[in-house]
Order: sequence, then structure tokens, then C-alpha cells
Amino acid sequence: MDTDPGTAERVTQACFNQRFVMQSAATFIWTAVAYRMMWRYGERGYRYMHLDAGHVCQNLYLAAEAIGCGACAIAAFHDDALNEALQIDGVEHFAVYVGVLGKKRG
Ligand SMILES: Cc1cc2nc3c(=O)[nH]c(=O)nc-3n(C[C@H](O)[C@H](O)[C@H](O)COP(=O)(O)O)c2cc1C
Repeated sequence: MDTDPGTAERVTQACFNQRFVMQSAATFIWTAVAYRMMWRYGERGYRYMHLDAGHVCQNLYLAAEAIGCGACAIAAFHDDALNEALQIDGVEHFAVYVGVLGKKRG
């Protein structure tokens, strides 16, 4: 578990400083380990890992709705900066999608 308070700011900056990332109740960052998909599907695995991430994020929207919260998918992020913030290599293991969750405005 990452307890470094600077991580949230680094993740926010990697998301082109979209401030609601910093303000979210929780930020989900979905990463992929390429080999886990590629050994079975080859290059087509790249397509599948992004489809998978879309399905997972859709479930975040559904779960958020069920508890009266809001969610927002984020794909506008700087790949290298986000991978660096997560301390993953960006080649074998990389971030594919981000989702934030929070209270809806009252
Ligand atoms: C693949 C993808 C990437 C997105 N990236 C961002 C983003 O980086 N920043 C953002 O504010 N919203 C992002 N969104 C959310 C959309 O801007 C929009 O709010 C969402 O799709 C709901 O749209 P609607 O309320 O018009 O139905 C993204 C949505 C998708 C599907």
C-alpha cells in the first residue's frame, strides 16, 4: 500500500492536472501486465486489455450509481508520468485507464 502523500498530487499532475482527481474520494487506476494477455492472444491482446478496462470502468459507474455517488472515466493522462508515479515500468506493466469516484454535488 502506498502511503506517500505526494502520490495523489503526482497522479493528478499525470492526469494533466484535472483537479477532481485530487479531490476525489477514491481514484482507481487500472494497469495491465501485457504478458498475461499476450501469451494467449498475441498482439490482439492489446485490444482486449483495453476492452477489459472499459468493462471494469463501466462497473465503477454502475456501482457508483448504486450508492448515490458519481464516477468519471479518465483517459487523458500522460503515460510516462502516470507509470512513474505508480513505479511501474511502462513497458511490461502500464496504466491503461483511470476512474474517480466521489459524492455528487448536493
Ligand atoms: C474513454 C474515456 C475517456 C475519458 N476521459 C476523460 C477525461 O480524461 N477527463 C474527463 O473529465 N472526462 C473524461 N471522460 C468522461 C467524459 O468526458 C464524459 O463525462 C462521460 O463519458 C459521460 O458523458 P455524458 O455525461 O455526456 O454521458 C472520459 C470518458 C471516456 C469513455
